[in-house]
Amino acid sequence: MTVTTAAVSAARATAPEGAFDALRRQDPEIADVLLGETRRQATSLQLIAAENFTSPAVLAALGSPLSNKYAEGYPGARHHGGCEIVDVAERIAVDRARALFGAEHANVQPHSGSSAVLAAYAALLRPGDTVLAMGLPYGGHLTHGSPANFSGRWFDFVGYGVDPETGLIDYEEVAALAERRRPKAIVCGSICYPRHPDYEAFREIADSVGAYLIADAAHPMGLVAGGAAPSPVPHADVVCATTHKVLRGPRGGLLLCGGELAARIDRAVFPFTQGGAQMHTIAAKAVAFGEAATPGFTGYAHQVVANARVLAAGLAAEGFGVVTGGTDTHIILADPGPLGADGKAARGRLAGAGLVLDTCALPYDEARGIRLGTAALTTQGMGEAEMARIAVLFSAALRGDAGAGGEAQADVRTEVRELAGRFPPYPH
Ligand SMILES: Cc1ncc(COP(=O)(O)O)c(C=O)c1O
Repeated sequence: MTVTTAAVSAARATAPEGAFDALRRQDPEIADVLLGETRRQATSLQLIAAENFTSPAVLAALGSPLSNKYAEGYPGARHHGGCEIVDVAERIAVDRARALFGAEHANVQPHSGSSAVLAAYAALLRPGDTVLAMGLPYGGHLTHGSPANFSGRWFDFVGYGVDPETGLIDYEEVAALAERRRPKAIVCGSICYPRHPDYEAFREIADSVGAYLIADAAHPMGLVAGGAAPSPVPHADVVCATTHKVLRGPRGGLLLCGGELAARIDRAVFPFTQGGAQMHTIAAKAVAFGEAATPGFTGYAHQVVANARVLAAGLAAEGFGVVTGGTDTHIILADPGPLGADGKAARGRLAGAGLVLDTCALPYDEARGIRLGTAALTTQGMGEAEMARIAVLFSAALRGDAGAGGEAQADVRTEVRELAGRFPPYPH
């Protein structure tokens, strides 16, 4: 079977019955984009820490007529008629999220992780309030005080860092900053921290200064769902998350909180920061929460971490610097400097070999490093043996390109294609 035929089959397998063929007939230009992307995802290795492969069931809900429905408000209290059926989807999504994470209240409407964080701030803060969060150079997200983002424009953010030697959060520094700056809220969560935040320590620090604790668990929430990471839910006033990373649902956000903040959180999402809920996405979130409650997902979540540990150890053995010396999560933050490339050059060379990942700030250096994750590879069914091999391929792609006119890189590309072919994201 040619790659193109395989891509067509995969595209068919991920679309509702007949939908892909109908698209091809009506709009071949866009159908080609879908095919090209399906093929790209199936023939290279997706190591972007925030990405994953959703199930065909999640994709079916996303590509459904629920997308047609306007539904401002909440189940039973909508501003539009005809919501009685989509209300069922939202109630199921909320009940499943609450059960999955042991939370008193869930809001499943945020369109993205950033929208969830915006709503958390809207519920708890006033413009101009001081907020303590991980500084952007150390792994804070744009919504944690970037001047290019609403957060940095509307709030007075103070950044905490990590220890330059260990790469670990320095809780004494967090406590000292909190004492000095008396923030209204403390945010814990990061785009690249490979260890578990100490939620109890953050809670204690927040309590010592009367601050709210907001956990932005966008990255680890899937691990939490699968019992492979500690939960922020018992400790934080509000937990923000994405549903599309390790959690393996549709692109979107999620908010969890206790009963006493429920009404404020709901009002902060709609009508304060969003309009109509996206019911196709909410139905897809319900499907993903259902999947995440199964023993299969628990196995996957633990395998994600086991794979990341092996990959981190393999990269260290190949000479990469590995920030914090390893990982407890799906994330690895690595320094390719010892192999003769900064993060940007490494990302380009690795992409040329079919190894797709991001650059990321390094806590101790001006030069950027690389950030990678194991969720997508694990969903494909890869295990520790494949991770060990991928670490060797990383090194071959970087060293080979520098020394041997790109031949070694071409060999790596061939092996990557073969490896991806053995673990198709959408078998058909
Ligand atoms: C810690 C953290 N917060 C928020 C977000 C924002 O999520 P989204 O891209 O869905 O807006 C991300 C995304 O990577 C993140 O890592």
